[in-house]
Amino acid sequence: MKIATVQIAPIFGEKEHNLNTIINLINNTECDLIIFPELCTTGYSFADRNETEQYAESSKGDTISILSKMAMEQNKIIILGFAEKDDHQLFNSAAALFPDQNLNRIYRKSHLFYREKFCFDPGDTGFFVINNHDLDVNIGLMICYDWRFPEAARSLGLLGADLIVCPSNLVTDVWHISMPSRALENKVYLACVNRFGTENRNGESLLFKGKSAIYDYNGKILAEAAPDAEQILFADIDPIKTRDKSFNPFNDIFKDRRTDLYHNNSIEIIS
Ligand code: ACM
Repeated sequence: MKIATVQIAPIFGEKEHNLNTIINLINNTECDLIIFPELCTTGYSFADRNETEQYAESSKGDTISILSKMAMEQNKIIILGFAEKDDHQLFNSAAALFPDQNLNRIYRKSHLFYREKFCFDPGDTGFFVINNHDLDVNIGLMICYDWRFPEAARSLGLLGADLIVCPSNLVTDVWHISMPSRALENKVYLACVNRFGTENRNGESLLFKGKSAIYDYNGKILAEAAPDAEQILFADIDPIKTRDKSFNPFNDIFKDRRTDLYHNNSIEIIS
């Protein structure tokens, strides 16, 4: 299975321009799955909910409908981040669009970063895995800052993901320490698809740091982009290889878990 990650620099508020860029890249990229960054149709730095609402779209709106049709016609899975409006709610979402439209799903970002808290509602979809029979691949979604919470990738791993897709707009460098660990500790492939470029808005300048990366199930980098350029990364992945979670005859990273010792909601303090 050939996957492609597309690192671009969307222009804030220029939805038509951004969508045309995305369409051209889909048309000209040979692959089974193509992935774009977080909020790639609108740009990132919304001022507040009013502004987000101006640019956000229903998952049944024109943008997602056009791209869903392309997924069907070109027999490609398309995953991208977009600003979603659902009645009065606003979500930082990712659409996963399949050749078989029955599989289409929307993931709404669970952990909101920085000023996103003033622009979006916290996601309510939770984590899920989509099984694509044709390619025999199980795909899980998370978005950017979700990486800081090992529970996000772990949930996807336990649900049977072979590949975690993480559309991103990353502005730090620390994620390079953890993102490969999320792949290693769950024995899954992971594609972190970042944007590059700067947005100067609301009296603040945000530099998005590129360096999109595809990791194998041992956390090894299969491909990595530059910090500041439009770039498509490709990797051939073999989803079946992620399903046996053992790495020697005596250790299996899921079966070895000591769930009897892990605390979810309570901490026992012994004094
Ligand atoms: C981020 O969650 N966009 C850093």
